[in-house]
Amino acid sequence: MRFGCYVGVSRELPLLLVDETGWNFDTGAIGRPTFTVSRAKLATMVETTRIVLASRPEGAPTAANFRTETAELPPLEDGQVLLRTLYLSLDPYMRGRMSTAKSYAKPVEVGAVMVGGTVGEVLESRAPGFAKGDVALAYSGWQTHDVADASGLRKLDPGAAPVSTALGVLGMPGFTAYSGLLKIGQPKAGETVVVAAATGPVGSAVGQIAKIKGARAVGIAGGPKKCAYLLDEFGFDAAIDHRAADFAEQLKAAVPDGIDVYFENVAGPVAEAVYPLLNTYARVPVCGLIANYNAAGRPDGPDNLPAFYSRILIKSLTIRGFIQTEFVEEVFPDFLRDMTEWVADGRVRYLQDVTEGLEHAPEAFIGMLEGRNFGKVVVRVAD
Ligand SMILES: NC(=O)c1ccc[n+]([C@@H]2O[C@H](COP(=O)([O-])OP(=O)(O)OC[C@H]3O[C@@H](n4cnc5c(N)ncnc54)[C@H](OP(=O)(O)O)[C@@H]3O)[C@@H](O)[C@H]2O)c1
Repeated sequence: MRFGCYVGVSRELPLLLVDETGWNFDTGAIGRPTFTVSRAKLATMVETTRIVLASRPEGAPTAANFRTETAELPPLEDGQVLLRTLYLSLDPYMRGRMSTAKSYAKPVEVGAVMVGGTVGEVLESRAPGFAKGDVALAYSGWQTHDVADASGLRKLDPGAAPVSTALGVLGMPGFTAYSGLLKIGQPKAGETVVVAAATGPVGSAVGQIAKIKGARAVGIAGGPKKCAYLLDEFGFDAAIDHRAADFAEQLKAAVPDGIDVYFENVAGPVAEAVYPLLNTYARVPVCGLIANYNAAGRPDGPDNLPAFYSRILIKSLTIRGFIQTEFVEEVFPDFLRDMTEWVADGRVRYLQDVTEGLEHAPEAFIGMLEGRNFGKVVVRVAD
């Protein structure tokens, strides 16, 4: 952290905040007209290092789409806190924010800091309920420091669980799994639930919650290492590598009673193998389409839409898209209660893929879109 200043005060000195009435130093004797400034308005100014969107990607993002810069943060106002980022969450939805394609959220402007969930330590507070040293869930984006409205923060208890879990199993991805699976998928005991990107924070929670509800969990993941982890650590009943040449046959063999819930995380060839196996009245919570996120145009090949609609009709399928925010008000308290308990008693396990240093965030993000992550991607920005 470095101190900044206005009005020619040296960088090591506290910032002199000037209000509309102007300023002076102690005596009011310097400069004309004579301004006043209260001691209470003396404050430090903090510089943040941040990664901004340098340009919009065409297809897969590259390092050239990001730029690192420093900026001075504005002084704290009432109701605000100064945060030092400890962890930054990297999530697939950020790919959508880099593009101007129509979506449920506005894109990041070129030149603006990349958005993202964070866990931050309070360095300074002008907000009731927050004190120096508190740790909070925030949305500071890809940067080392932030001035945030306290109303948008959730205070974390570092004694209850590692604070980084607020970005994963006990945060947005865990909640996405919980709400999408239970509100839309509605798995019943004895049914078969299939999910892809299954070692990620959403998929791993989907499979484990399905097991808690008495269903059979079949996970799809990229590569033998991930598949072994699904069976050995997350307790899935079967795990299939979507990169295997005979993936569709292996999947069919793994679901002898068909599929009752397909939690859609990826789309693409995985979905094409899943759909013929869906049972009558199967439910498909459509959560994510990561196989399409880097697509620059329509895929080659036949038009599958008529066959897709025909299957919906013939099998009486329920296919329902959702953005997790729609369930927050109704479901979040139940999620936090259940998931905290399940994580504490070991019924739900989690896997984190931690990258050290904000400067490595772009490569970690690009790697996640290519499936090179192994678990929930977080960047440790500071200790
Ligand atoms: N609707 C919502 O509100 C909401 C909220 C959060 C997340 N999501 C969505 O949920 C999905 C999972 O998110 P997450 O945070 O848990 O991500 P994640 O699993 O940590 O990371 C993405 C994973 O997707 C898999 N993948 C990438 N390209 C693929 C492809 N072409 N075909 C098959 N798999 C591919 C890779 O796993 P493998 O190596 O195992 O293939 C990769 O590791 C994403 O689609 C995300 O956008 C939606």
